[in-house]
Amino acid sequence: MEINPLHPLFAAEVTGLDLDSPPDRETFSEIHEAFEKYAVLVFRNQPITDEQQIAFSERFGDLETTKVGTPGAGSKLITLTNFSPEGKIVPPTDKQVLSGKANREWHADSSFKEVAAYASMLSAREIPSSGGNTEYLSMRSVYADLPADLKQKADKAVAIHDFSYGRSKIDPHLVTDAERQAVPAVRQAMVINHGPHGKSLYLGAHAARVEGYAEEEGRELIDTLMDFANQPKYIYSHAWQPHDLILWHNRAVLHRATPFDSANQRRLMVRTTIAGKAPKVAASDRI
Ligand code: OGA
Ligand code: MN
Repeated sequence: MEINPLHPLFAAEVTGLDLDSPPDRETFSEIHEAFEKYAVLVFRNQPITDEQQIAFSERFGDLETTKVGTPGAGSKLITLTNFSPEGKIVPPTDKQVLSGKANREWHADSSFKEVAAYASMLSAREIPSSGGNTEYLSMRSVYADLPADLKQKADKAVAIHDFSYGRSKIDPHLVTDAERQAVPAVRQAMVINHGPHGKSLYLGAHAARVEGYAEEEGRELIDTLMDFANQPKYIYSHAWQPHDLILWHNRAVLHRATPFDSANQRRLMVRTTIAGKAPKVAASDRI
Protein backbone atom coordinates (compact mmCIF):
# COMPACT_ATOMS: atom_id res chain seq x y z
CA MET A 1 0.00 0.00 0.00
CA GLU A 2 1.21 3.48 -0.88
CA ILE A 3 -0.16 6.80 0.33
CA ASN A 4 0.67 9.87 -1.75
CA PRO A 5 -0.53 13.45 -1.18
CA LEU A 6 -2.82 14.93 -3.82
CA HIS A 7 -2.70 18.56 -2.64
CA PRO A 8 -0.21 20.70 -0.68
CA LEU A 9 -2.56 20.99 2.33
CA PHE A 10 -4.61 17.78 2.56
CA ALA A 11 -6.03 14.80 0.62
CA ALA A 12 -4.05 11.72 -0.39
CA GLU A 13 -4.29 8.82 -2.79
CA VAL A 14 -4.08 5.23 -1.60
CA THR A 15 -2.82 2.67 -4.10
CA GLY A 16 -1.74 -0.95 -3.95
CA LEU A 17 -4.69 -1.98 -1.81
CA ASP A 18 -7.42 -4.42 -2.77
CA LEU A 19 -10.62 -3.92 -0.81
CA ASP A 20 -12.14 -7.15 -2.16
CA SER A 21 -10.90 -8.68 1.05
CA PRO A 22 -10.91 -6.63 4.26
CA PRO A 23 -7.54 -5.06 5.20
CA ASP A 24 -5.71 -6.65 8.13
CA ARG A 25 -5.42 -4.80 11.45
CA GLU A 26 -2.04 -3.25 10.73
CA THR A 27 -3.01 -2.02 7.28
CA PHE A 28 -6.27 -0.68 8.63
CA SER A 29 -4.53 1.25 11.37
CA GLU A 30 -2.23 2.83 8.75
CA ILE A 31 -5.28 3.80 6.72
CA HIS A 32 -7.02 5.24 9.77
CA GLU A 33 -3.98 7.28 10.71
CA ALA A 34 -3.63 8.61 7.17
CA PHE A 35 -7.31 9.46 7.17
CA GLU A 36 -7.05 11.56 10.34
CA LYS A 37 -4.03 13.32 8.87
CA TYR A 38 -5.16 13.94 5.28
CA ALA A 39 -8.96 14.14 5.88
CA VAL A 40 -9.64 12.92 2.32
CA LEU A 41 -8.43 9.53 1.07
CA VAL A 42 -8.89 8.43 -2.54
CA PHE A 43 -8.73 4.66 -3.00
CA ARG A 44 -8.11 3.91 -6.66
CA ASN A 45 -9.50 1.04 -8.63
CA GLN A 46 -11.93 -0.46 -6.11
CA PRO A 47 -14.86 -2.04 -7.96
CA ILE A 48 -16.66 -2.98 -4.75
CA THR A 49 -20.19 -4.19 -4.11
CA ASP A 50 -22.62 -2.49 -1.73
CA GLU A 51 -21.90 -5.19 0.86
CA GLN A 52 -18.13 -4.70 0.61
CA GLN A 53 -18.57 -0.95 0.90
CA ILE A 54 -20.69 -1.37 4.03
CA ALA A 55 -18.16 -3.79 5.53
CA PHE A 56 -15.19 -1.47 4.89
CA SER A 57 -17.09 1.59 6.17
CA GLU A 58 -18.05 -0.23 9.36
CA ARG A 59 -14.38 -0.57 10.25
CA PHE A 60 -14.45 3.19 10.93
CA GLY A 61 -17.56 3.10 13.14
CA ASP A 62 -21.32 2.61 13.16
CA LEU A 63 -23.10 3.64 9.99
CA GLU A 64 -25.94 6.12 9.74
CA THR A 65 -29.30 4.91 8.53
CA THR A 66 -30.48 6.93 5.55
CA LYS A 67 -33.19 9.38 6.53
CA VAL A 68 -36.70 9.59 5.21
CA GLY A 69 -37.01 11.30 1.81
CA THR A 70 -33.57 10.25 0.49
CA PRO A 71 -33.08 7.35 -1.97
CA GLY A 72 -32.04 4.38 0.14
CA ALA A 73 -34.13 5.52 3.18
CA GLY A 74 -34.02 3.01 6.03
CA SER A 75 -30.85 1.30 4.70
CA LYS A 76 -27.14 2.01 5.23
CA LEU A 77 -26.76 3.27 1.66
CA ILE A 78 -27.57 6.48 -0.18
CA THR A 79 -27.79 6.31 -3.94
CA LEU A 80 -26.95 9.50 -5.81
CA THR A 81 -28.05 9.22 -9.38
CA ASN A 82 -29.79 11.05 -12.20
CA PHE A 83 -31.66 8.04 -13.57
CA SER A 84 -34.59 5.89 -12.45
CA PRO A 85 -34.29 2.24 -11.39
CA GLU A 86 -35.42 1.41 -14.97
CA GLY A 87 -32.41 3.31 -16.29
CA LYS A 88 -34.25 6.37 -17.60
CA ILE A 89 -32.64 9.78 -17.06
CA VAL A 90 -34.97 11.79 -14.81
CA PRO A 91 -36.19 15.30 -15.77
CA PRO A 92 -34.40 18.35 -14.26
CA THR A 93 -37.42 19.13 -12.07
CA ASP A 94 -37.22 15.74 -10.35
CA LYS A 95 -36.36 15.70 -6.64
CA GLN A 96 -33.34 13.51 -7.37
CA VAL A 97 -31.89 16.18 -9.66
CA LEU A 98 -32.77 19.05 -7.31
CA SER A 99 -31.10 17.26 -4.42
CA GLY A 100 -28.05 16.81 -6.62
CA LYS A 101 -28.12 20.55 -7.22
CA ALA A 102 -28.31 21.23 -3.49
CA ASN A 103 -25.11 19.18 -3.16
CA ARG A 104 -23.31 21.85 -5.20
CA GLU A 105 -23.12 24.07 -2.14
CA TRP A 106 -20.29 23.49 0.30
CA HIS A 107 -21.62 21.23 3.04
CA ALA A 108 -20.79 18.63 5.66
CA ASP A 109 -22.98 15.54 5.49
CA SER A 110 -25.57 15.32 8.26
CA SER A 111 -24.47 18.57 9.93
CA PHE A 112 -28.23 18.98 10.46
CA LYS A 113 -28.26 16.00 12.84
CA GLU A 114 -27.50 16.48 16.49
CA VAL A 115 -24.73 13.91 16.19
CA ALA A 116 -23.29 14.97 12.86
CA ALA A 117 -21.56 12.48 10.57
CA TYR A 118 -17.92 11.63 11.18
CA ALA A 119 -17.06 10.47 7.67
CA SER A 120 -18.59 9.60 4.32
CA MET A 121 -17.50 7.02 1.78
CA LEU A 122 -18.50 7.52 -1.83
CA SER A 123 -18.06 4.93 -4.56
CA ALA A 124 -18.11 5.88 -8.25
CA ARG A 125 -20.19 3.22 -9.98
CA GLU A 126 -20.93 5.17 -13.19
CA ILE A 127 -19.41 8.51 -14.12
CA PRO A 128 -20.02 10.99 -16.95
CA SER A 129 -17.31 11.49 -19.57
CA SER A 130 -16.60 14.96 -18.20
CA GLY A 131 -17.69 17.17 -15.29
CA GLY A 132 -19.24 15.87 -12.10
CA ASN A 133 -16.10 16.43 -10.02
CA THR A 134 -16.47 16.38 -6.25
CA GLU A 135 -14.59 19.19 -4.52
CA TYR A 136 -13.18 19.33 -1.00
CA LEU A 137 -12.34 22.34 1.13
CA SER A 138 -9.76 22.01 3.91
CA MET A 139 -11.48 23.59 6.91
CA ARG A 140 -8.43 22.94 9.11
CA SER A 141 -6.26 25.08 6.84
CA VAL A 142 -9.05 27.65 6.68
CA TYR A 143 -9.27 27.84 10.46
CA ALA A 144 -5.48 28.10 10.83
CA ASP A 145 -5.40 31.04 8.38
CA LEU A 146 -8.41 32.96 9.73
CA PRO A 147 -7.73 36.58 10.69
CA ALA A 148 -7.56 36.91 14.48
CA ASP A 149 -10.86 38.78 14.90
CA LEU A 150 -12.80 36.19 12.89
CA LYS A 151 -11.08 33.34 14.69
CA GLN A 152 -12.11 34.81 18.01
CA LYS A 153 -15.73 35.13 16.93
CA ALA A 154 -15.81 31.61 15.48
CA ASP A 155 -14.21 30.10 18.59
CA LYS A 156 -17.10 31.25 20.72
CA ALA A 157 -19.93 30.69 18.25
CA VAL A 158 -22.60 28.05 17.99
CA ALA A 159 -24.33 27.74 14.62
CA ILE A 160 -27.85 26.46 14.13
CA HIS A 161 -27.89 23.89 11.33
CA ASP A 162 -31.21 23.33 9.64
CA PHE A 163 -31.79 20.90 6.75
CA SER A 164 -34.86 22.82 5.55
CA TYR A 165 -32.91 26.08 5.39
CA GLY A 166 -30.29 24.82 2.92
CA ARG A 167 -32.78 22.94 0.79
CA SER A 168 -35.32 25.79 0.66
CA LYS A 169 -32.74 27.98 -1.08
CA ILE A 170 -32.79 25.55 -4.02
CA ASP A 171 -36.55 25.08 -4.16
CA PRO A 172 -39.09 25.89 -1.42
CA HIS A 173 -40.95 22.64 -2.13
CA LEU A 174 -37.92 20.41 -1.94
CA VAL A 175 -38.38 19.59 1.74
CA THR A 176 -41.48 17.61 2.70
CA ASP A 177 -43.27 17.90 6.05
CA ALA A 178 -42.07 14.38 6.91
CA GLU A 179 -38.44 15.47 6.39
CA ARG A 180 -38.95 18.68 8.35
CA GLN A 181 -40.23 16.65 11.29
CA ALA A 182 -37.48 14.06 10.99
CA VAL A 183 -34.70 16.65 11.15
CA PRO A 184 -35.41 19.61 13.44
CA ALA A 185 -32.72 22.33 13.63
CA VAL A 186 -29.70 21.53 15.82
CA ARG A 187 -26.78 23.37 17.46
CA GLN A 188 -23.21 22.82 16.31
CA ALA A 189 -20.03 24.37 17.67
CA MET A 190 -18.47 26.46 14.89
CA VAL A 191 -14.98 25.24 15.68
CA ILE A 192 -13.93 21.63 16.21
CA ASN A 193 -10.74 20.64 18.00
CA HIS A 194 -8.93 17.68 16.42
CA GLY A 195 -6.14 17.60 18.99
CA PRO A 196 -2.82 16.94 17.23
CA HIS A 197 -4.40 17.70 13.85
CA GLY A 198 -5.44 21.22 14.79
CA LYS A 199 -8.84 22.85 14.73
CA SER A 200 -11.33 23.22 11.93
CA LEU A 201 -14.10 25.61 11.08
CA TYR A 202 -17.43 23.81 10.89
CA LEU A 203 -20.07 25.45 8.69
CA GLY A 204 -21.66 24.73 5.30
CA ALA A 205 -25.02 24.93 3.55
CA HIS A 206 -27.12 23.85 6.52
CA ALA A 207 -25.75 26.57 8.83
CA ALA A 208 -28.72 28.92 9.03
CA ARG A 209 -28.19 31.16 12.04
CA VAL A 210 -25.77 31.91 14.86
CA GLU A 211 -26.93 31.55 18.42
CA GLY A 212 -27.07 34.85 20.30
CA TYR A 213 -26.84 36.89 17.08
CA ALA A 214 -29.68 38.69 15.36
CA GLU A 215 -30.71 36.76 12.24
CA GLU A 216 -28.93 39.16 9.85
CA GLU A 217 -25.74 39.58 11.87
CA GLY A 218 -25.47 35.83 12.22
CA ARG A 219 -25.93 35.43 8.48
CA GLU A 220 -23.25 38.04 7.91
CA LEU A 221 -20.77 36.20 10.11
CA ILE A 222 -21.48 32.89 8.35
CA ASP A 223 -21.10 34.53 4.93
CA THR A 224 -17.87 36.32 5.87
CA LEU A 225 -16.36 33.07 7.16
CA MET A 226 -17.52 31.07 4.14
CA ASP A 227 -16.19 33.74 1.74
CA PHE A 228 -12.82 33.48 3.45
CA ALA A 229 -12.94 29.68 3.28
CA ASN A 230 -13.92 29.51 -0.36
CA GLN A 231 -10.48 30.20 -1.85
CA PRO A 232 -8.89 28.03 -4.54
CA LYS A 233 -5.81 27.34 -2.43
CA TYR A 234 -7.93 25.40 0.09
CA ILE A 235 -9.73 23.30 -2.54
CA TYR A 236 -8.96 19.84 -3.91
CA SER A 237 -11.13 19.06 -6.94
CA HIS A 238 -11.48 15.36 -7.64
CA ALA A 239 -11.98 14.23 -11.23
CA TRP A 240 -13.46 10.77 -10.75
CA GLN A 241 -12.04 7.71 -12.45
CA PRO A 242 -14.22 4.60 -12.67
CA HIS A 243 -14.14 2.64 -9.39
CA ASP A 244 -12.58 5.39 -7.32
CA LEU A 245 -13.68 5.23 -3.70
CA ILE A 246 -13.31 8.33 -1.53
CA LEU A 247 -13.45 8.59 2.22
CA TRP A 248 -13.74 12.09 3.68
CA HIS A 249 -13.75 13.55 7.17
CA ASN A 250 -16.97 15.54 7.51
CA ARG A 251 -15.63 17.48 10.47
CA ALA A 252 -12.38 18.53 8.78
CA VAL A 253 -13.50 19.25 5.21
CA LEU A 254 -16.56 20.56 3.44
CA HIS A 255 -17.44 19.13 0.05
CA ARG A 256 -19.59 19.94 -2.95
CA ALA A 257 -20.70 18.42 -6.24
CA THR A 258 -20.03 20.15 -9.56
CA PRO A 259 -22.28 20.15 -12.64
CA PHE A 260 -22.20 17.70 -15.52
CA ASP A 261 -24.42 17.10 -18.54
CA SER A 262 -27.14 15.48 -16.40
CA ALA A 263 -29.78 15.57 -19.16
CA ASN A 264 -27.71 13.22 -21.35
CA GLN A 265 -25.11 11.45 -19.26
CA ARG A 266 -25.50 8.99 -16.42
CA ARG A 267 -23.87 9.28 -13.02
CA LEU A 268 -24.29 6.75 -10.23
CA MET A 269 -22.58 7.09 -6.87
CA VAL A 270 -23.19 5.06 -3.73
CA ARG A 271 -22.52 6.53 -0.30
CA THR A 272 -22.18 5.12 3.18
CA THR A 273 -22.00 7.49 6.14
CA ILE A 274 -20.06 6.81 9.31
CA ALA A 275 -21.87 8.26 12.30
CA GLY A 276 -20.30 10.57 14.85
CA LYS A 277 -20.04 9.42 18.46
CA ALA A 278 -21.36 12.46 20.34
CA PRO A 279 -22.83 15.91 19.81
CA LYS A 280 -20.19 18.62 19.49
CA VAL A 281 -21.98 20.97 21.83
CA ALA A 282 -21.84 19.76 25.43
CA ALA A 283 -25.16 18.43 26.68
CA SER A 284 -25.03 20.76 29.71
CA ASP A 285 -25.20 23.92 27.62
CA ARG A 286 -27.93 22.73 25.29
CA ILE A 287 -30.96 25.03 25.11
C1 OGA B 1 -22.37 13.22 -1.08
C2 OGA B 1 -22.14 14.38 -1.98
C3 OGA B 1 -21.21 15.03 -4.10
C4 OGA B 1 -21.11 14.44 -5.46
O1 OGA B 1 -22.31 12.09 -1.56
O2 OGA B 1 -22.59 13.43 0.12
O3 OGA B 1 -22.31 15.50 -1.57
O4 OGA B 1 -20.26 14.95 -6.24
N1 OGA B 1 -21.70 14.08 -3.20
O5 OGA B 1 -21.84 13.50 -5.76
MN1 MN C 1 -22.67 15.41 0.65
